Amino acid sequence: MTAANAVLDEAVRLLRAGQLVAFPTETVYGLGADARNAAAVARVFEAKGRPAGHPLIVHLAGAGAVREWASDFAAPAQKLARAFWPGPLTLVLPRAPDVLPAVTGGQDSIALRVPSHPLAQALLAAFGGGIAAPSANRYGRVSPTCAAHVREELGERVALVLDGGDCEVGLESTIVACLGGELSLLRPGIIGRAEIEAVAGPLADTAARAPRVPGSSRTHYAPATPLELVAADRLESRCTELVAAGYALAVLARRPARASLPQVTWRVVAAAAPAFGHDLYATLRSLDRLGVSGILVERVPESEEWAAVRDRLRRAAARDTPDGT
Ligand code: TXA
Ligand code: MG
Repeated sequence: MTAANAVLDEAVRLLRAGQLVAFPTETVYGLGADARNAAAVARVFEAKGRPAGHPLIVHLAGAGAVREWASDFAAPAQKLARAFWPGPLTLVLPRAPDVLPAVTGGQDSIALRVPSHPLAQALLAAFGGGIAAPSANRYGRVSPTCAAHVREELGERVALVLDGGDCEVGLESTIVACLGGELSLLRPGIIGRAEIEAVAGPLADTAARAPRVPGSSRTHYAPATPLELVAADRLESRCTELVAAGYALAVLARRPARASLPQVTWRVVAAAAPAFGHDLYATLRSLDRLGVSGILVERVPESEEWAAVRDRLRRAAARDTPDGT
């Protein structure tokens, strides 16, 4: 038996025993538990510090298992599954009657996803059931995009971390609800609105009607350091203002500084949306560790390809700005 097989066997043994196993997906690392085991699911909430009532995504090896979890798999949802699974898309469907209430947060719907990461695929195939897995971070914090982040976040709270390297996408999956004959986008991701509409028809404009999504609470995906979004042409002047007020700052920008700014750690990140999204969480984590009193992030474009990054940055900034403005 190879070492890789031995680790996978151990992961399956732990899941069957109701323990938590973190695993890589192409989006971010997940904190996995047997979705049919109430005690295991309860452990997920405890390890994350996540309030009860916030539903989890159940990960499946393939679309063939959807009927075990959902009472309806309508044509538009099937089209999306065919087009994007395995991959970074989560479908919210009416739930099957026997799904554990803790998994769905007591709602009538369930979130399902078939990840494409080879290690996630291997784990799901070997386990043979659904794995409930939120992102493997403490509640409200930045999602982990490598195994070291998971250990940093959860330490001994997780029995095993499968190391599959760096996540390819780096931002959480796109979530589409297919409920009541209507499609709606609950969380933007790397699979964009236009790609979804090209496959399954128009998305409803929904914010008001959307089901409860904890990822939609205002202060999700946040680093510990206060974060402020600043227009590109105001970065230097805002730095000067805050430094004068005694702040030590870090800046995450798509271009170098145009002035010399002592007291400021200026980090240049990729200028294109997918690469920016890939690096965002790891960069925020490293800026968080600097011990600065504020992080300024250059505002990103308003175009559709930036929707997922914009969404995560808006939430990360929702707490308060460094000087309370
Ligand atoms: O990329 C991802 O989706 C990652 C990887 C690990 O698969 N998972 C992830 O899980 O981001 P989590 O728990 O951090 O976010 C799941 C999101 C939450 O915003 C949750 O509210 C939403 O999915 N969700 C789950 N079930 C739902 C439901 N029945 N209705 C509406 N939203 C739901
Ligand atoms: Mg999360």
